[in-house]
Amino acid sequence: MINAVHLTKSYGPVVAVRDVSLTVGEAQIYALLGPNGAGKSTTINMLTTLLKPDSGSVHINGHNAASHPDAVRRIIGVTFQDLVLDRDLTGRECLDFAGRLYNLAPNLRKQRINEVLALVELGTAADRLTGTYSGGMKRRLELARCLMMHPLVLFLDEPTQGLDPQHRAQIWQYIKDLRSQNGMTVLLTTHAMDEAENLADTVGIIDDGAMVSEGTPDALIGSLGSAYIRINAAFPPGYSPSFGAAAWVTMVDAQPGVLTIGVLHGARQMTTIIETLHQDGIVILDISMTRPSLGDVFLQVTGRALRDEGASR
Ligand SMILES: Nc1ncnc2c1ncn2[C@@H]1O[C@H](COP(=O)(O)OP(=O)(O)OP(=O)(O)O)[C@@H](O)[C@H]1O
Ligand SMILES: [Mg+2]
Repeated sequence: MINAVHLTKSYGPVVAVRDVSLTVGEAQIYALLGPNGAGKSTTINMLTTLLKPDSGSVHINGHNAASHPDAVRRIIGVTFQDLVLDRDLTGRECLDFAGRLYNLAPNLRKQRINEVLALVELGTAADRLTGTYSGGMKRRLELARCLMMHPLVLFLDEPTQGLDPQHRAQIWQYIKDLRSQNGMTVLLTTHAMDEAENLADTVGIIDDGAMVSEGTPDALIGSLGSAYIRINAAFPPGYSPSFGAAAWVTMVDAQPGVLTIGVLHGARQMTTIIETLHQDGIVILDISMTRPSLGDVFLQVTGRALRDEGASR
């Protein structure tokens, strides 16, 4: 459904996107994950015909975006990172205006408007000016506006930016439902790890304009080892466990009072770890196991943490 090959785009001296390729199959959800300025919006703008790549090509359901932009525009829906609603129109009027632009016949327009208003639960607010809407309501109206045209492929640039956890979860549910009920293909951008992990079949991690890693959330996480085991204990200075070089150990990080071990088969190695520490005379105060998050993957492939990871997890 989406096929982008070797996309590159510069703004003057700034290379915003370098040699990005990606493909998304029918009814798949693809998340483009990266920090501020990574090139996510630039990529989505090239995929949706709004921006011409310096080099590379885009095909949407077989249509070439450069030579047949109209054919592409007819089958896609896009929501932008910045909200672009007319404050002086009611929600219903916004949708009606969009329907007119798309030449939907009056009856069909009415029917679709009621359908999508119900879907995003804005029925009761439909006749209020959008200027009085909360951020979450505006995002939902924008989503409704693009769903109204029954797009085959949906592009969502930061669909949950600025939303509270409850409304984020609600938008996630809409996106999942659209895929499962309508077989819609979705490409979204996000800088929130949990969003990508929750929603996407495939995650592409983009940093400084380049795709640095791509795979299913499970595969990306699996590439780090299946778990981290954290042990709180009064370790002697310079302590390093004898299993540190074992094949099932992916990393060992010793901090005062805390030992973190990356392991390939978490639960299976727990007993070995406990027994070894016991033999070394270490009294364990607390032991816990966590699966690595996509945040850990990001740290591993880019060498730095996501700035806002703490806020989003
Ligand atoms: N119109 C523009 N003119 C000049 N530079 C731009 C323009 N748009 C984006 N850039 C630059 O290109 C790079 C990528 O920006 P882009 O908006 O694609 O990133 P992003 O991943 O969407 O970031 P964010 O998470 O903040 O939305 C940044 O360095 C940005 O400053
Ligand atoms: Mg952006």
